[in-house]
Amino acid sequence: MPRKFVVGGNWKMNGDQKQAREIIENLTNATLDPNVEVILGVPAIYLPLAKSVLPAKLELAAQNCWKVAKGAFTGEISPAMIKDIGATWVILGHSERRTIFGEKDDLIAEKIGHALDSGLKVIACIGETLEEREGGKAEEVVYRQTKAFVSAIGDRWSNVVLAYEPVWAIGTGKTATPQQAQEMHACLRNWLSGNVSPSVAELVRIQYGGSVTASNAKELAGSPDIDGFLVGGASLKPEFVDIVNASS
Ligand code: G3P
Repeated sequence: MPRKFVVGGNWKMNGDQKQAREIIENLTNATLDPNVEVILGVPAIYLPLAKSVLPAKLELAAQNCWKVAKGAFTGEISPAMIKDIGATWVILGHSERRTIFGEKDDLIAEKIGHALDSGLKVIACIGETLEEREGGKAEEVVYRQTKAFVSAIGDRWSNVVLAYEPVWAIGTGKTATPQQAQEMHACLRNWLSGNVSPSVAELVRIQYGGSVTASNAKELAGSPDIDGFLVGGASLKPEFVDIVNASS
């Protein structure tokens, strides 16, 4: 079965009510490739607003969640709450969560496990820093990050999308070349084949993220193991439509 292209827009901590409405209205009126799954990662506070104007062709993701359903966790939101407002996805393990907020592999695995238990689908992010790449450790790092959540996922890989986001390419304007991205995606698939199962390796969708724009998306989308994108800055702009349609 061919893997359905999946494009996520990670708005990060950007936008206000007006801009949220405008972005969704623009996507609502745009012609989007119906063979592409499109997921908007909206700041938690705007998820209900986004849900209220969301057309059926778009899905909604939270950008983070905590690892239990409820309780004394000031400032956190739970997968149950995300589901309650009608969002179906959550982005976990993003490099900004790892580096700025100190989230470690084991916490990310717990979050992924609980989000899946709660019925959310998960975009699980991995990726090496520049130092790690230059030190020849890129593969080792993404394998370690992936291995950390393999048992939390169990047999639920159909509810997971992997997002390979090299940290050095995030928000820097320095995109991985299609060759660099393809090479890592192929390595990951090969690792999954050996460490999870050949069928998971074949079915799991692997997004590339890091300075994806309308001008580089088409070439990246042409690589056989790149099954979509996780887009930051450009997902706030009208060019996101061209990124969604880049695989057509
Ligand atoms: O999650 C998306 C991401 O981190 C990439 O951000 O702004 O480089 O597209 P950006």
